Parts: sequence; structure tokens; C-alpha cells
Amino acid sequence: MIPLDFSGKLALVTGVGDNESFAWFIAKSLQAAGAKVVLACHPRVLGIVESFLTRDVDREARLLPDGSEFKPVKVLPCDASYDTMDDVPAEVKGDRRYAKFPEYSIKGMVDAVGQEFGGIDILIHSIAFGREVTKPLIDTSRKAYLEAMGISAYSLTSMVRAAAPYMANRPGGASVVGLTYVAGERVVPHYGGGMATCKASLQIDAKQLAWFVGDKNVRVNLISAGPYASRAARAINKDFGKLIDHAAEHSPLRRPIGPEEVANSTLYLCSSLASGVTGQILYVDCGYNVMGT
Ligand SMILES: NC(=O)c1ccc[n+]([C@@H]2O[C@H](COP(=O)([O-])OP(=O)(O)OC[C@H]3O[C@@H](n4cnc5c(N)ncnc54)[C@H](O)[C@@H]3O)[C@@H](O)[C@H]2O)c1
Repeated sequence: MIPLDFSGKLALVTGVGDNESFAWFIAKSLQAAGAKVVLACHPRVLGIVESFLTRDVDREARLLPDGSEFKPVKVLPCDASYDTMDDVPAEVKGDRRYAKFPEYSIKGMVDAVGQEFGGIDILIHSIAFGREVTKPLIDTSRKAYLEAMGISAYSLTSMVRAAAPYMANRPGGASVVGLTYVAGERVVPHYGGGMATCKASLQIDAKQLAWFVGDKNVRVNLISAGPYASRAARAINKDFGKLIDHAAEHSPLRRPIGPEEVANSTLYLCSSLASGVTGQILYVDCGYNVMGT
């Protein structure tokens, strides 16, 4: 039997906003495979995520294949706009949704995890934000474009820099996995606000980062997921369902992807089965990207 056993591994998962996020399914799979999971959530959604983790009505969404429940060992706040707390503007520090947390920068959060758990084996980047995502690129403001780039693309570099000391030379190596979308390579007109540019940047950054941390046996890969109606995706376009149907009809597998498929492929990329795989983009999109129509 080929083992897929993550016991003894610590996985830091960013980007859980609710129980429909890709990151939710990824985090559950990592725990199901034996890893300890720490969630780092946007300070504004942390309370919501905690309720998904505890409410009786959400129990089913927490169930793992063996009947046990998803239970992260820790849930920390992190706003991926900020590398250190020195970057946080006074008005944000004073906002009541932030003021209750003394630390929510990328470096502060990663240091807290690395120090408490003695290392990080798996880092999941599943974060994207574009204030003007519903506006086509041509109408996108400079401010919104740069903000989207900082949160959705640069944050990967910032996280890998912060995590590299804790991920270096772990037993069996360590793995970073981020989420991208085909709009980073081909024109998808509705994917606005500069988000396509963010994904293009994320893709070359992941390849560069693979080089910069490869000498420490840390691998960096991305999954290019097919369209999936997470809450955020539905907000991009009220006709998101039609978009999913279009992709399904034009994919070799003639169906939409499920979030569990992204989670399963993430497990592969984080496992020893992918020990020689880095700097890659794995398409989990029912093959949609290979089509010419
Ligand atoms: N849903 C799709 O169709 C699709 C397809 C391909 C790729 N993706 C990518 O998958 C990833 C996850 O998206 P999703 O569909 O699960 O939606 P989601 O909204 O559930 O996940 C996005 C997460 O980003 C977080 N976030 C936004 N701004 C942040 C900030 N400043 N600091 C920290 N966290 C922040 C949100 O809180 C949320 O949890 C994203 O990178 C997205 O671009 C999604």
C-alpha cells in the first residue's frame, strides 16, 4: 500500500472564510490524513469561522471520512495586507474588529505558529481579494489594482519568506501550495479588478519562490482550480452558475470540479508522492485549460 500519512506534520492553512472555502476542504483533508492544522483567518471573519467550527448545525460540514470532526489545533488572525504590525495604519488598528487582536501580521502570525509548534511542514495560501473584482480590468482604478496585488499575489512571497526558517529541512521536506486560476494565463473578461494580473504574478512568483527555498527542501506549487461557486466566487458574478456550466460543457470531463478534488490534489502535492515536484501549476479543472474553445 502507498502511504499518505501526515501524522506528526503541522499544516498552516490560510484562506478559510467559511465552510465553502477551498481552504476549508483542504484543511479538513489535511487533518483526515493525520496532520495537525492551524488556521489563519482574516480578522474580520475569524468569529464566523469559529462558529462554523463549533455550532451544532454545522457539524455535518466538519465531519471527516472516519466520522471524527475537523478541529484545528489553533485559529489565529492574519490580515495578508500587512507583513508586520508596523505596516498597519492607525485607523485599522483602531477598528473594533481588529483592536481586540494584538498581532495579525503575516510575520507575527507565522512566528507564533513556528515557535509554538517547533516548525511548519505545510503552508496553504488560499487568499484573494479584489475590491473592484466586478469591474473589468479596463475600468479598474490604480488603487484597487495595487491593493489586489498586495493581498492576492505579494502575500505569497511574504508568507514564504516568514515561514522559510520554520519549513527548512523538515523530515521528508516541506510544501507550500497556493491557489490560482486560468485567468492568470488567458483572457477571462469578467475576472476584473486586476485579479487576473494577480494570478499571473502569483504563478511566476511561485516558480521563483520554488528556487529560493528549494535548497532547504521546501517545495512550492500552485493548483489552478476550475470555477467553483464559493461565496466569494458568487460575489464576482451573479451569473457564476452559468460560467460553471460553460466550463463544465467545454471540459474534457464534461462536469464541474468539486472542492474535495482540489483538497485531494493538495494532499498529493504535500505528500512524499510529490517529493520531486516543485515550481509547478497543477490544473484541477476537469481539463478545461487544454481546450481551444
Ligand atoms: N472559486 C473559484 O472559482 C476559484 C477558482 C480558481 C482559484 N480560486 C482561488 O482559490 C482561493 C480561495 O478562494 P475561494 O473560492 O475558496 O473563496 P473564499 O472567499 O472562500 O477564500 C478567499 C479567502 O481570502 C481571504 N482574504 C481576503 N482578503 C484577505 C486578507 N487581506 N487577509 C487574509 N485573508 C484574506 C478571505 O477571508 C477568504 O477566506 C483564492 O486564491 C481564489 O482566487 C478560486
